[in-house]
Amino acid sequence: MNLQRKRVQSDSNLKLYISKARIRQRVKLIAREINKDYKGRIPIFIGVLNGSFIFISDLVRELKVDTEIDFLKLSSYGDSKISSGEVKLLKDLNCTIEGRDIIVVEDIVDSGLSIKYIRDLILSHNPATLEFAALLFKKGLSKLDFDIKYIGFKVPNKFLVGYGLDYAQKYRNLKEICILKN
Ligand code: PRP
Repeated sequence: MNLQRKRVQSDSNLKLYISKARIRQRVKLIAREINKDYKGRIPIFIGVLNGSFIFISDLVRELKVDTEIDFLKLSSYGDSKISSGEVKLLKDLNCTIEGRDIIVVEDIVDSGLSIKYIRDLILSHNPATLEFAALLFKKGLSKLDFDIKYIGFKVPNKFLVGYGLDYAQKYRNLKEICILKN
């Protein structure tokens, strides 16, 4: 038994939800779609810190197309389980968006508040195209009036941690995605 699995099994607050093998397989499939869709182009991947740092690094390493990478940092949850309802921009982009193909990479779309904020922000800089890749997408979210083109898994309304997702900054380094009980 590896140490990681031991950590999940011995922490009574964690219940394994998506194994690292399933995540790896899904990330590869998303990369394959992106390779096909962006053939001959050089998209800019914009990771939303902190949660997306593992997903974006695994995703871009599966790509065959040339890429550029930049990061945004937002915060709406702080150390809480509930969104404050207000998105704050903590780190802006350094790249030029105008005329470029942009793919925003999120770990999770939960209430949709962050992704809507990011969409407005990026559209205000006139990209050529804008798409979204989210590893996790909460089922039942009906408030989005645009598509998330690349979705890893549609997930129920449980509090999830691991593979970049935290609770009070903990659990981000789990290789699998777990439900945080209690
Ligand atoms: C989390 C997550 C997404 C956002 C999704 O970020 O990484 O960016 O919330 O939630 P929403 O759809 O309800 O807006 P958080 O503010 O917790 O910061 P973090 O990425 O540093 O954990």
